[in-house]
Amino acid sequence: MKGIVLAGGKGTRLHPLTKVTNKHLLPVGLEPMIFHPVRQLVGAGIQDILIITSTEHMGEIVRLLGSGKDFGARFTYRVQEEALGIADALALGEDFAGDRPITVLLGDNIFTHSIAGFVDRFLAQGRGARVLLKSVDQPSRYGVAALDEKQVIEIEEKPERPKSPYAVVGAYCYDPQVWDILRTMGLSPRGEYEITSVNNRYIQLGELAYDIVEGGWTDAGTFESLAEANAMMLACGNRITGLALEGKTR
Ligand code: DAU
Repeated sequence: MKGIVLAGGKGTRLHPLTKVTNKHLLPVGLEPMIFHPVRQLVGAGIQDILIITSTEHMGEIVRLLGSGKDFGARFTYRVQEEALGIADALALGEDFAGDRPITVLLGDNIFTHSIAGFVDRFLAQGRGARVLLKSVDQPSRYGVAALDEKQVIEIEEKPERPKSPYAVVGAYCYDPQVWDILRTMGLSPRGEYEITSVNNRYIQLGELAYDIVEGGWTDAGTFESLAEANAMMLACGNRITGLALEGKTR
């Protein structure tokens, strides 16, 4: 299993905080935001981690994170030259992943509890993809999952009329089919390559499983959600519940 942290994008919803710096370098609780997804992956037993960010901020990100030694990890870095969407950034990970399954974390997603159980359940499922859902107050800000009794039947990106309160959060497990799926994606009406389109393709294949997030979750991409992320992580001193101190290798 390999890990990918997506830390590109423009962070425009946080201007002027992100005018001269990258969103993922902003503080969340006691640490820079990007420490969180990195520690989540290492805590789930994933030490080989690709970090993707923009040309503009790669220098600062590398200066902050280094080789990965301080985190018990090995970091590889790749530049996303234009912020063309989450699926566009992910496509840069193909050579790094090779034929291994991957766990992808959006760099601005903060969880109070470890995602290790989610990763384990994906590995047990053997193939396909797995997503994490969270019931939220304002689903139209997110990718929203429509569910029947057993499975996700459709995901809509930022729908005006959400079919459920379940946001698809920024943690995704994929088998190597994802690279072929990414090659078939087109631009969405908002001009991005959407991760939601990738997940919908797995639904069509009948291979998308899901879990509900354990504990608290928020993204940190708006002033309100950044404040919430800070409150959540200050309350626990950035200690993630259930994080293995010595993650076994997956
Ligand atoms: O937080 C969960 C939500 O994240 C999901 O529910 C949505 O389905 C998903 O599309 C995404 O929505 P956002 O509008 O919040 O995504 P945002 O543009 O803020 O990007 C989230 C992270 O992805 C960001 O912290 C860095 C990374 N990213 C984003 C873009 C657009 C990249 O690495 N490159 C990019 O080009």
